[in-house]
Amino acid sequence: MTIYRHDEDINTLTFSQKILERETNMSTFKVPWLMMILVTTFFQLVISTNSTIFHHTSNISNSSFSSNKKPQTNLQKIERGLARARAAIKKARNSHLTEEDPDYVPSGSVYWHANTFHRSYLEMEKRFRIYVYEEGDPPIFHNAPCYGILGLEGIFINDMEISGFRTMDPEKAHVYFLPFSIITLINYVFTGTSNWEPMYNTVRDYINVINQKYPYWNRSLGADHLMFACHDWGPKISRSIPHLYKNSIRALCNANTSEGFKLSRDVSLPEIYLPHGTTEGLLGGPSPSVRTILVFFSGGVHGYIREVLLKHWENKTEDGVKIQKYLPKGENYYTQVRKSKYCICASGWEVASPRMVEALYMGCVPVLVKDDYAKPFSDVLNWDTFSVDIPTRRIPQLKDILMAIPQRKYIRLQRNGVRVRRHFVVNLPPKRYDVFHMILHSIWLRRLDIHIRDIN
Ligand SMILES: *[C@@H]1O[C@H](CO)[C@@H](O)[C@H](O)[C@H]1NC(C)=O
Ligand SMILES: *[C@@H]1O[C@H](CO)[C@@H](O)[C@H](O)[C@H]1NC(C)=O
Ligand SMILES: *[C@@H]1O[C@H](CO)[C@@H](O)[C@H](O)[C@H]1NC(C)=O
Repeated sequence: MTIYRHDEDINTLTFSQKILERETNMSTFKVPWLMMILVTTFFQLVISTNSTIFHHTSNISNSSFSSNKKPQTNLQKIERGLARARAAIKKARNSHLTEEDPDYVPSGSVYWHANTFHRSYLEMEKRFRIYVYEEGDPPIFHNAPCYGILGLEGIFINDMEISGFRTMDPEKAHVYFLPFSIITLINYVFTGTSNWEPMYNTVRDYINVINQKYPYWNRSLGADHLMFACHDWGPKISRSIPHLYKNSIRALCNANTSEGFKLSRDVSLPEIYLPHGTTEGLLGGPSPSVRTILVFFSGGVHGYIREVLLKHWENKTEDGVKIQKYLPKGENYYTQVRKSKYCICASGWEVASPRMVEALYMGCVPVLVKDDYAKPFSDVLNWDTFSVDIPTRRIPQLKDILMAIPQRKYIRLQRNGVRVRRHFVVNLPPKRYDVFHMILHSIWLRRLDIHIRDIN
């Protein structure tokens, strides 16, 4: 079998990046960086598959998959369906007609390209199917906690088991889900010492089992397989299995590009703190006019970014700055977020932080102070329209940077944040366009970017 990625040549973006992101305003879009990532990805793939890589022909209709010959295998049928989806998405890019949708029609500047996203989303609903391997028993497999900071692991596993996107027929699947959880691996397999081997072996054994039983892992060397991890050990555990690390779609909260996260292949998950497993009491906040705090942060000194932040700003109350370690008893964290215009989401020990989604939930504009972070859903959403980025080295100018943002621009950022909120909300059961579906859509795009076919 051969995999190839839909890069027309290695100096351009992958299919989804090219189609969904804005091409016209290249200045806001970090092309060279993305290209570098893609070039690296490309060569890794050549090495890992040790087989011929086909460049995608420049025109989708030239591809052999839309030829009139009847497809022979299930895989060819699947690839043919994906080729149709690509063509439909490409077409939507040049169309200004919005399509109907009973629930929601994406529009506005928060999307790089609202029409294209909408078409891609509808194509996903029509076609995308995931097979969940049934092997493996709870508590390690098919199971994880659904509350707390890492609750997304359990929520995704549970949602997936009952989802309409799940197929019970592996021959019809686009993606194969490996239903292990890093949290349960740690809870049940980790020995508490620095010896990670038992955890590595558990995942390795699992992949060996499905690899003996089914043909799918071998045929793509894992490229159409999905792992899901919110715990920050996810990247390191995946690294212990070369094909999982190099080829598979890894959905990770810890989307640290310095730790091997690849935007073109992996999926960045929003970290969401659900104290009781639901969003009850978390959604909504007052309008901008009654927000009296300019910028808010409260939290422990975890990691180097927070050290710098607190060194410069701890307890400085000038001009509405409220940056401190822990809040005194009686002060409620969420109340402060709701009183604030801007909320600092600084990386802690790891790049992701639940503060980002918390701010969006409560109408505070997220100020991201993070290095090497791949933002969730950034192939669809233009984060610059609802958040502010401050590089670590500019922390000393934090207040000046925020004060220099005109009121009108702040209002726009705030309103856009309220607009994108639906894409971060956890619903039980999931609803269209919510966080579960946005994660699925990110996975769908990664699958659209590759092509698997028989060597013979
Ligand atoms: C996949 O490849 C491995 C290693 O070459 C082999 O042991 C295994 O039997 C293969 N699986 C299938 C289903 O053919
Ligand atoms: C900030 O205020 C807290 C609570 O009053 C105090 O414990 C802490 O030492 C202060 N830090 C600095 C740097 O002033
Ligand atoms: C991201 O990864 C790099 C390389 O491992 C590490 O030095 C850095 O601390 C990580 N960032 C965070 C916030 O953990």
